[in-house]
Amino acid sequence: MDIIEHQEKSMTTSRRFALLAEREINKETYVEPWAEAGLIVVDSPHDPQPSLCMEGGLVVEMDGKARADFDAIDLFIADHSLDLEAAPEAMSIPSRQLAHMLVDINVPAATMRRLAGGCTPAKLTDIIRHMNVLEMMMGLAKMRIRRTPANQAHVTNWREHPALLAADAAEAGLRGFAEVETTVRVARNAPFNALAVLVGTQTGRGGVLTQCAVEEALGLRLAMKGLTTYAETLSVYGTERTFVDGDDTPWSKAFLAAAYASRGVKVRFTSGTGSEALMGNAEGCSMLYLEARCVHVVRGAGSQGVQNGSISCIALPESLPGGVRAVCAENLLASMLGLEVASGNDALASHSAIRKTAKLMLQFIPGTDFIFSGYSAVPRRDNLFGGGNFDAEDFDDYNVLQRDMQVDGGLRPVTEEETLAIRREAAQAIQAIYAELGFPPITDAEVEAATIAHSSDDMPERDLVADLAAADGFLAGDQNMISVVQALQKRGFTKTAQNVLEMGRQRVAGDYLQPSAIFDRHFHVQSALNDVNDYAGPGTGYRVENGRWEEIQRIPQAKSPREFVADQIGTPMEKLVEVGPAKQGTRQEVIVAVGPAFGKEMTRTINGLEHEAVLAAILTGVAKEGLVARIVKVKHSSDCAAIGQVGSDLSGSGIGIGIQSRGTAVIHKKGLARLNNLELFPQSPALTLETYEAIGRNAARYAKSEAARPIGVKIDNWARLKLIVKTALLHRRETEQIRDEPPTELFFDWEPDA
Ligand code: 5AD
Ligand code: CA
Repeated sequence: MDIIEHQEKSMTTSRRFALLAEREINKETYVEPWAEAGLIVVDSPHDPQPSLCMEGGLVVEMDGKARADFDAIDLFIADHSLDLEAAPEAMSIPSRQLAHMLVDINVPAATMRRLAGGCTPAKLTDIIRHMNVLEMMMGLAKMRIRRTPANQAHVTNWREHPALLAADAAEAGLRGFAEVETTVRVARNAPFNALAVLVGTQTGRGGVLTQCAVEEALGLRLAMKGLTTYAETLSVYGTERTFVDGDDTPWSKAFLAAAYASRGVKVRFTSGTGSEALMGNAEGCSMLYLEARCVHVVRGAGSQGVQNGSISCIALPESLPGGVRAVCAENLLASMLGLEVASGNDALASHSAIRKTAKLMLQFIPGTDFIFSGYSAVPRRDNLFGGGNFDAEDFDDYNVLQRDMQVDGGLRPVTEEETLAIRREAAQAIQAIYAELGFPPITDAEVEAATIAHSSDDMPERDLVADLAAADGFLAGDQNMISVVQALQKRGFTKTAQNVLEMGRQRVAGDYLQPSAIFDRHFHVQSALNDVNDYAGPGTGYRVENGRWEEIQRIPQAKSPREFVADQIGTPMEKLVEVGPAKQGTRQEVIVAVGPAFGKEMTRTINGLEHEAVLAAILTGVAKEGLVARIVKVKHSSDCAAIGQVGSDLSGSGIGIGIQSRGTAVIHKKGLARLNNLELFPQSPALTLETYEAIGRNAARYAKSEAARPIGVKIDNWARLKLIVKTALLHRRETEQIRDEPPTELFFDWEPDA
C-alpha cells in the first residue's frame, strides 16, 4: 500500500472497527424484530391478553378467544392441561405479584406450581414480563423439580464407528453424564448405534440412560428391543399449522408418549422458541407466548418433562434482542409447570466463546435437571446433531467453571489413565458382542484406535455396506438386549453384562418413569419424587459440598503449591560471604542491595537465572562503565523498593540497585521517595542476563551523573497471570528470612573477564 492510498484508507476506515468486524461475535446474524413474521421473542402486538372464563367446569374463553374459535392447541390446553381448580385464584393474582412470589424464598415451590398450572399461556407470559434474567435464575433454582442438577451428552461420530461410539459413551459415563443420546447419519445404522452407546455407557458407569434419536416408529422398536431407555423426540409446536405440517396433533403426541411409557421408556418432549417462525407459521405471535402454549401441551399430554430452550432453533432467538433472556424464560415456564427440563445449550448458538459461555450461565448457575440437552461429548465435527455448543474440547474449561463457582454442572474431572482404561474396555466389549452375535468383526486395531482416538479422523474405515446389512438383520431378527447380555457374559465382560441387564430390569420396574428420574452411581433412581428440590433460600436446597465438592476440586491440573518453589532452591552460593555490617560509602560507586534470601535460601530467579550469574552480569555492567560495585544484603525487608533504598542510602554516589531473590529489580537514588525511582523492572520473568548487565551499566552512568537511556524491557501482560502463584510463594520464602537486623556487607568471589 503506498502512502497516499494508506492515508485515504485510514481517513475512512478505523483500524479498530476493522478488527472488531473480524471478531467471532460478528460472524452472527442480528436482526430487528418483525412481529408479523414471528421474529420477536416477547410482547408481540398480536399476543393475546390473559383471560379465562369457565362455565359448568368448561373453559368457554381463554386468552381473549371464545371456545368456538379455539384451535387444536387451545382446546387441548383448556381441556387437558389447565388446572381448573387453581385457575380462578391464579388468574386473579396480578402477574407482577406472581413474579414476586417466584423469587420469594418464603413462597414454597409447590404453591407456585399449583398456581402456574392454573395460568393460561398468556398469563404465564405476562408473569415473565416482570422478570429480569437474575430473577428468572432465582426462579429456576427454586422451581427446577429435581434437587440435584445433571447433564445429558451427545455421543455420535461421522463414521458411525461402533468401537468409537462405545468408547466415547463409556468416557461420557465416566465423566458424569446421567443421560447419553445418540443419533444416526444413515438411518439404517440406528440399531447398531443404539447398541454401541448402550454397551459403552454401561461400561463407563452403570445406570446412564440412553436414547437414539430417530423416526418415532423406529425409536419405539429400538426401545422394545431393550437398546434404549428414554426418548425425547416428541416435538410440539405453539401453532396449529406447524403441528399439522408435521403430520401431528397434541393428541397424537400424547398417544405416542403413552406408547413409549407403557413399554417402560422414559419420555421427554421437545419444544422451544423459534420453531414456529422457522416453519413459517408463527401467526404473528411472540416466541415466548407460543412456547408457553407448548409447555402446556406437554403437561396436558402427561409427559414428565421437556427439552426446551430453543434447541435446534437457538440461533433464531439469538438473532433478536432479548433472545437469550427469552430462552431462560422458557426453561423457567417448564419448571413452573412441574416438568423436568433439559435446558438447551445443545445446538451451536454462537461463534463467540464469550457469548456462548455467558448464555450458559443462565442455566449453569441456577442448575436445571439437565443443564445441556446434549453436551457434545465428542468433537463438534463428529456431532451428528448439528454441532454442539460445548464439545469434548471444552471439557477442561467446563470442569474449571464448576471449580471456580462451586457449582455442580453435572460433570467430573477424570484422569487420562482411567479414561483410556474405560474406553478400551468398552471398545473390547462391543468387539466381543459383534463376534458373538455374528456381526462384521471389529479388529484389535480398531479397538486400539478407538481407545486413544479424539475423533472419527483417528479411526480406520469400515465396510459400511456390510455393517448396514448386519444392522438390518439385527433389527428384524430375534436378537435383543438379552442376547447382548449373554454375549458379554460369555466373553467375561461381567460388569457390563450386569449393568445392561439391570437397565432391562429397571425398564420393567419403571421407577425411572418418575419425573426427572436419573440413576445415581448405585443404580438408585433419583427423581423429583425422592430427590425433591427443597430450595428455600441460602443454606437450603442442593449445595455442592463434601465428597462432590472434593471431586469437583480434584482437577488433574491442580498441583501442590509446595512444588512451586523447588526450582528456585539450589545449593547456597559459596562465593557469596557475609563479612560484617554494611558501611556508609564515600566513593563514586554503585551498591547492589540484595534481598534476605538471596544466594542462600533461594539461588535462582523466577525464570531460573542463577543468582551468581545475575550478580556477575550487574557487576560486569558497572565495570564496563569504569566503576566498582559493593554488594550488601538487606535483612529487615523483602520489599523491592525498601531494598533499593537501603542500597542508595549506603552508596557513596547515592545510586543503588535493589534486587529481590526472585529477580525483580530497581535502580534507586538517594533522596527520592521510597516508591519513586530512576528505573523499575517489575516483571522479573522478563529479565535476562543482558538486562541485568544493562541495569549495572545504567546505574554506573547515574553514579557518574551521566545521562542514560532507560532500558526498554518488553512487557508481557500474561506473566502475572501465569506466574502469580509462584511469585506469591517465592515472596513468602524471601519474607520468611526477614530479621530485625541491619544490612551486611557481602564479599563476592568474582573476577570480571579480562
Ligand atoms: N421445537 C420443537 N422441536 C424441536 N426440535 C429441535 N428444536 C425444536 C424446537 N424448538 C426437534 C427436532 C428433532 C429433535 C432434535 O428435536 O425436530 O426432532
Ligand atoms: Ca437432547
